[in-house]
Amino acid sequence: MNAGIIGLGSYAPDQILTNEDLEKKIDTSDEWIRTRTGIEERRIAAPEENTSHMAFKAAQEAIKDAGINPEQIGLILVATVTPDNPFPSVATMLQEQLGASNAAAMDVSAACAGFMYGIVTAKQFVETDTYSHVLVVGVEKLSKITNWEDRNTAVLFGDGAGAVIVSKVSEGRGILSFELGANGSGGKYLQQDGPYLTMNGREVFKFAVRQMGESAVNVIEKAGLNKEDVDMLIPHQANIRIMEAARERLELPIEKMSKTIHKYGNTSSASIPLSLKEEVMNGKVNDDDVIVMVGFGGGLTWGAIALKWGR
Ligand code: UT7
Repeated sequence: MNAGIIGLGSYAPDQILTNEDLEKKIDTSDEWIRTRTGIEERRIAAPEENTSHMAFKAAQEAIKDAGINPEQIGLILVATVTPDNPFPSVATMLQEQLGASNAAAMDVSAACAGFMYGIVTAKQFVETDTYSHVLVVGVEKLSKITNWEDRNTAVLFGDGAGAVIVSKVSEGRGILSFELGANGSGGKYLQQDGPYLTMNGREVFKFAVRQMGESAVNVIEKAGLNKEDVDMLIPHQANIRIMEAARERLELPIEKMSKTIHKYGNTSSASIPLSLKEEVMNGKVNDDDVIVMVGFGGGLTWGAIALKWGR
């Protein structure tokens, strides 16, 4: 039996920062941001709202949705590059707050591909019967490493969290295939250099357009499926033009690609689980649907999963 997702949760802070708000702070325009990125607004955590708090909210919802007790969780993996502190990890903070007394806990650092790395790691432990339930969280408070005077990056990012419980699911469902990869020679293109995130947008764009399509195609092939079998593509929400390139590579109609970037911006490791939650909530993902999730990010890193939805 494969590992799959049995519970889902998400959290976005209340405060909305619109493109119009940004126009007042830096030399940019709503028109530029919309047409170049697809972003209309993003959520920003309050100064006192930590990464661990957002993670806790999403995790609590995922645990409830899965119908399990926190004590049944064997491992907590938190994908984040914006932990409250370098250590203790956000995962250990969650372990205490949730009362997950039997769980091991660690953070996973793979930037925007972190949630994919987390899910694939969880799968290994579940399918070897090491742990029955693994909590995987993607969470970021990017606002705290954003240089609000740098228009190249300030317009792109947002805060939020998404969480899933990975456990065994019925025969035929669950994770069908995956791909993870890294290319450290591109690390300089997207990094936290001092207090702030810095980025060479054009280089990351070129890499992302190529890698997203390639990884998506690879996991479809590895699963023994064809492009037409895909019911929903959930790409990392970094830029609508990058997402569209992946969709076109898979020859999917527009309604088969998840799009939440307009309201959340790029939430890094949180973007895929946030989008998945919305699609499930809106009835766009149903039992036995084939989902392809694909992400890329700083490192450079990438990861993709083909999954048949349902418990
Ligand atoms: O999770 C992974 C994170 N990163 C990414 O996914 C980023 C990938 N890259 C991108 O999404 C795009 O490269 C950006 C959205 C960052 C930039 O879009 P672009 O189409 O590659 O624009 P560009 O960097 O080529 O800049 C075009 C122009 C420049 O002006 P000049 O030199 O042509 O006069 C920029 O200075 O747009 C200007 N520009 C802006 N103008 C208004 C750059 N940022 C802004 C801005 N508002 N916020």
